[in-house]
Amino acid sequence: MTEKKRTAILISGRGSNMRSLVEAARVPDYPAEIVLVIANRPDAAGIAWAVEHGLPAVVIDHKDYASRADFERVLQAALDTSGVELVALAGFMRLMTPEFVAHWHDRMINIHPSLLPSFKGLHTHEQAIAAGVKIAGCTVHFVRAEMDSGPIIAQAAVPVLSSDTSETLAARILEVEHQVYPFALRLVAAGQARRDGEKVVISSDVNETNRLYSPGI
Ligand code: GRF
Repeated sequence: MTEKKRTAILISGRGSNMRSLVEAARVPDYPAEIVLVIANRPDAAGIAWAVEHGLPAVVIDHKDYASRADFERVLQAALDTSGVELVALAGFMRLMTPEFVAHWHDRMINIHPSLLPSFKGLHTHEQAIAAGVKIAGCTVHFVRAEMDSGPIIAQAAVPVLSSDTSETLAARILEVEHQVYPFALRLVAAGQARRDGEKVVISSDVNETNRLYSPGI
């Protein structure tokens, strides 16, 4: 295999998606290695997990910096020091400047718990329930300056039940997030997700017989 892509994961909280990426990257033929975990909040639960598991992990508290650009300068320095080639945002709740996003163009990915382009931003599960959609899911995409936009790499879908609350729907989606994020990072790190305009062309098998009916028929 060619060299593994040196990957950083940026978190702000619980870090369950980070854990799914770290666990996937332990598999010998996985094309990415997690070389750094960064949290922008000292109380992010995920950072404690990363430290316990011996990962290089740092807190760069955005509150310590006067501006977004100052914060990003320190972030960038940490990424550079570790020779990071790919950045995976995993519940990273901080908007980035267009300059930072441009620097990581096609080298920074994010997971959002909706089937984009629907339900961008906060309270995405509430938005899905309020809209009455019968299928919801999550999206892994390349990051662009506009929030929750950018070429889509992979998506996963789950049914929405009439009895769902935002919590039950979030939990159902989170399960597929933990499957699809490692899968999408694998595609990107292996060079199997090629951008063509603002779309991503995948050179990997897609099971075209997959169907999800909601309600079931
Ligand atoms: C996930 O639902 C992710 O899609 C969204 O924020 C949540 C983070 O959860 N961007 P975790 O910190 O990965 O557990």
